[in-house]
Amino acid sequence: MRETPIKWVVEDPKRKNVFWPSEEMKKRAWVSDEKIYEEAAKDPVAWWAKLAKEGITWFKEWTETYVWDPPFYKWFVGGKLNICYNAVDRHVKGWRRNKAAIIWEPEPPNEPHRVLTYYDLYREVNKFANVLKSLGIRKGDRVGIYMPMIPEVIIAMLACARIGAVHSVVFSAFSGQSLKDRMLDAEAKLLITADGYYRRGNVINLKANADIGIEGTTIEKVIVVKRLGKEAGLNVNMVEGRDYWWHELMEKAEPYCEPEVLDSEDLHFILYTSGTTGKPKGIEHHVGGYAVQAYWTAKWDFDLHDDDLFWCTADIGWITGHTYNCYGPLMNGATFLIYEGAPDYPAPDRLWQIIEKYGVTVFYTAPTAIRMLMKYGDEWVKKHDLSTLRILGTVGEPINEEAWLWYFNVVGGGRCPIIDTWWQTETGATLINSLPGIGPFIPTVAGRPFPGTRFSILTEDGKPTSIGEGGYLVQLSPFAPGMFRTIYKDPERFRQQYFSVYGEKIYYTGDGAYIYDEMGNIRITGRVDDVMKVAGHRLATAEVENAIAQHPAVVESAVVSVPHDIKGEVPVAFVVLKPGYKPSAELEAELRKTVDRIIGPIARPERIIFVDDLPKTRSGKIMRRILKALLRNQPVGDITTLMNPETVEMLKEKVGYRERGQ
Ligand code: PRX
Repeated sequence: MRETPIKWVVEDPKRKNVFWPSEEMKKRAWVSDEKIYEEAAKDPVAWWAKLAKEGITWFKEWTETYVWDPPFYKWFVGGKLNICYNAVDRHVKGWRRNKAAIIWEPEPPNEPHRVLTYYDLYREVNKFANVLKSLGIRKGDRVGIYMPMIPEVIIAMLACARIGAVHSVVFSAFSGQSLKDRMLDAEAKLLITADGYYRRGNVINLKANADIGIEGTTIEKVIVVKRLGKEAGLNVNMVEGRDYWWHELMEKAEPYCEPEVLDSEDLHFILYTSGTTGKPKGIEHHVGGYAVQAYWTAKWDFDLHDDDLFWCTADIGWITGHTYNCYGPLMNGATFLIYEGAPDYPAPDRLWQIIEKYGVTVFYTAPTAIRMLMKYGDEWVKKHDLSTLRILGTVGEPINEEAWLWYFNVVGGGRCPIIDTWWQTETGATLINSLPGIGPFIPTVAGRPFPGTRFSILTEDGKPTSIGEGGYLVQLSPFAPGMFRTIYKDPERFRQQYFSVYGEKIYYTGDGAYIYDEMGNIRITGRVDDVMKVAGHRLATAEVENAIAQHPAVVESAVVSVPHDIKGEVPVAFVVLKPGYKPSAELEAELRKTVDRIIGPIARPERIIFVDDLPKTRSGKIMRRILKALLRNQPVGDITTLMNPETVEMLKEKVGYRERGQ
C-alpha cells in the first residue's frame, strides 16, 4: 500500500485555481517568509553580497560588489574562485563524498543506469582536466562540447571550468553546419564529442556530424566518448593525430589537477542563442556572478535539500541544462537525474516510469513536453506511483492554463506547487517565479522577480504600465549577478539588442508581459520580436530563412511562426522560386532537408507555401506582420505602405485566409 502523500499546497479559499504553500511546505522550505522580498529590495547589492558569501567558497573576497558603467556591469570585482571547486571539491571534503551526484538513465530501457557519487565525479573531473591540459588547453582557450546526455558531458564542462578553459556547448541535435558556425565564431581549439547516441531507439552518428562541424575551423584535436561502441553498428571515423578516444586518454591521466584560481569576471562559458538576425549570438557568462545566481536559484526555486532527487529534463545544450543539470544542483551538493532519450520512448509513460523508479521529488520540464504527454492521456500517468513528487517546474515558453492544470492535477495529484520560471539564455538563471514556500501558484502566472532583482513593464514610450496593461518586460539595475556580460566579440550588438530600446540603463528582454495583480505577480505573454519558441527551442525566423536560401531553387523566403497545439509555435515558410523551378512535393521535401542540414530538424518548417511574390514596403522590407495575420486569420491591417499591395490577395488565396468574424 502507498502511504498517503503529503499535500504541499492548499487552495486559496476565495479564488479558484490559486494555490499557496501548505504548512508542511512552509516548514520544509528554505524560504517561507514573504518579508524576504522587502529585505532584499532595501539594498539589492548588499543582499547579493550576503548571498555570495554564504553560498560560494571564494579563494579571495572581492573588493567591489557591483560596478555599473552602462550598459556594462560587473559583480564581485576582484573576487577569486573556481566554480568546479564549488561544484565538486567542497563536497568531497565532507559527508557528501559518497552521496550520489548524478543518476544517469540511458534511453534503452534494458541498459543499466549509472550512478556517479561526488567522489566519482571528483576523480573523473580531475583526470579529464589533466587530459585537456595534456592536449594543450589552457586558461581562456575555447573548447567545443557536442555531446548527448551522458555523464561525460558534465565531466567535460566541469573539467573546463577547473582549468579556466571556456566551454561552448552545442546542442547535439544541431547539424554539423550549425556546430561549425559556432566553433568558427568561438575560435575553439578542441572539440569533445561522442561516437553517437540513442534517440527514439535509433542510433545517431554524432561523430559524422562533428566531422562536418570541425572542417575549416581552428579545432586541432577531438576527444570522442565511446557511448555506443561497435554493437550499435556505427562506423566511426577516427583521424590519426587529431581524434582521440576519451577512455584511452583517461587511462593515462594523473589523478589530481589543481583548480585554477579565477577572477570573478573571467569568462566562464559561451552559449550561442538565436537573436533576431540569422547569426547566433555568443552569450558570455562570467564565473562569479553566474555561480552565485545558479547556486541560490537552484536552492530556493526548487527547494533542494539533501534528500531530494531533482530532475530537469532540459538538454545540456541549452542554458537550462547548464544551470540546472550541472552547476546549480552540483554547487548545492544535490542529487540529480539525467536522461539520455526521448520522453515518449519506448512508450508515452517513460518519464513517469523514471520518476517512479528513482523516487524523483522535484521535476522540471517544458510546456511543450507537458502538452505532448497530456495528449497521450491520463492513463499513462496513472499507471505510476508519483507520490514522491513535491515540486513541479516549468520553463521555456508561456504555459497555457489547460496544460498547467493538467500538470498540477494529473502529474502532481493536486499536491505540488508549479514553479513557472521565466528566464533566458542571457539571464543565466531563473529570474521571475514564485518560490515554493511563499507562493502563490497561479496558472499562466510566473510570479514575482527573484529577491534582489528589479523588473518593470513599460509602454512603448517607456512609462510603467498599470495592472493588466500589456507592455514590454525590462530589467533595471542592479542587474542580477548571473546576467550575461556581453556578446562574444561583439559588444556593439550587446548594446544594440538589449540596451538601445529604452537606453543604456534598461535591459530590454524582448518579451511582452503584464502585471497580473496587486502583489506584483507577472504574466509573460511571449516574444515581441522575430524570435520563435518552437517546442521550447529558441530560433530566429531569419535563421530559417537563411537556411532555405541555401537551396539553389530559392530566390527569397519569409518565415513566420504560427501557434501550434503541442509545440507552442512552429515556423511556416513562404518561398519564392527562381524562374524554371516549379512548386512540387519533391521540392518541398528538399527544402525541409536543406533546413535539417543547415540548422537541424527542430527548425524544419511545418508548412511551405510557394508564392510569386512577398509583401514588401517601398524600401524592400518584407512585411512579416501581414504574413502572420494571414496565417492566423486575423485582420491584415494597413497595407497602404506596401510597394506591392496586390500580393495580399494572392496570399489570401494561397493560405486559405478567412478573416475572423466574416
Ligand atoms: O520568451 C521567453 C521564453 O523563452 C525566452 C528565452 O529563451 P531561451 O534563451 O531559449 O531560454 C529558455 C530557458 C530559460 C524568453 O525570452 N520563456 C522562458 N521561460 C518562460 C518563457 N516564457 C514564458 N514563461 C516562462 N516561464
